[in-house]
Amino acid sequence: MSFHTGELKPNTQLPGELFNGILVVNFYFSCTKSVQGLFLIFIATLCVNMSDPWQECMNFCLDVTKRAGKMIREALQKDITIMQKSSPVDLVTETDHKVEQLIISSLKEKYPTHSFIGEESVAAGAPSILTDNPTWIIDPIDGTTNFVHRFPFVSVSIGFTVKKEIEFGIVYSCVEDKMYTAQRGKGAFCNGVPIKVSGQEDISSSLVLTEMGFRKEPEHFHMMLANIKTILTIPVHGIRSPGSAAINMCLVASGSADAYYHMGIHCWDMAGGAAIVTEAGGVIMDISGGPFDLMSRRLIVASSRTIAERIAKEITEFPVGRDDTEGR
Ligand code: IPD
Repeated sequence: MSFHTGELKPNTQLPGELFNGILVVNFYFSCTKSVQGLFLIFIATLCVNMSDPWQECMNFCLDVTKRAGKMIREALQKDITIMQKSSPVDLVTETDHKVEQLIISSLKEKYPTHSFIGEESVAAGAPSILTDNPTWIIDPIDGTTNFVHRFPFVSVSIGFTVKKEIEFGIVYSCVEDKMYTAQRGKGAFCNGVPIKVSGQEDISSSLVLTEMGFRKEPEHFHMMLANIKTILTIPVHGIRSPGSAAINMCLVASGSADAYYHMGIHCWDMAGGAAIVTEAGGVIMDISGGPFDLMSRRLIVASSRTIAERIAKEITEFPVGRDDTEGR
């Protein structure tokens, strides 16, 4: 392969960029067709990575997520050993630990300077403080109770933040084999196909998702049931409780449900889905109607602001603490 520079020398009067550009063009036309092909792929990859510095992280993470999903599907074929965490309804399995280990070790090896907040690491005492550093927020199995019962709504949920802003989210509903993805400003997808919220504005024509388990303290339990009654009697078309916060958000993002609200979840349940529902045109806010806060353990997502604000107005808040304070 020859490299023609023609008459051009660095000390000509041409501006530097123009000179370099001419060198590149000369180089391109001096190559064989196959080298030209490789060169174009190289330039295209360079352009994509320059326009989104986190694209490469997302591509790598997608591959890790697929491996995690395969691990979960295989585990569903075997006996499942169940352990309790904070209460008899807060479950964890060996698979939660193994999947989190796979995800964090793979990402850490590739990105050693990044930070990590993983559900099972936090349960084992790791801090869950969100900083400006690039941070991976990971739920290895979102829907552990579903996993234990082989109820088929189980997901791997990963959100990636930089300066506390979510840059991209991945939710893999691995039994359904649905890979939901979204990058800031680039839309939301399911298995590569664009998705959009329903756009529903009328709450009385909507299907609402929430969680019916988990908080069993009497006062919270009563408020949770009272909230469900309030929403049902608006009325709405119905309430559903699929049991994976991340999948709930993706159901709203893809127009299969019109809203989801919950108090008492965690940043690892919300980070991946928050990116997806926002990029699908949905609205995400705090349960009070104020701005969404990833560490607040509460959220409303909806197909429209009208519905989200109506839910905020109707439901009664109860205290759930924060992810970034001691004694969560
Ligand atoms: C749970 C699920 C559930 C939500 C709980 C979460 P996990 O996640 O997302 O839908 O209501 O608050 O803790 O424990 O299965 O990862």
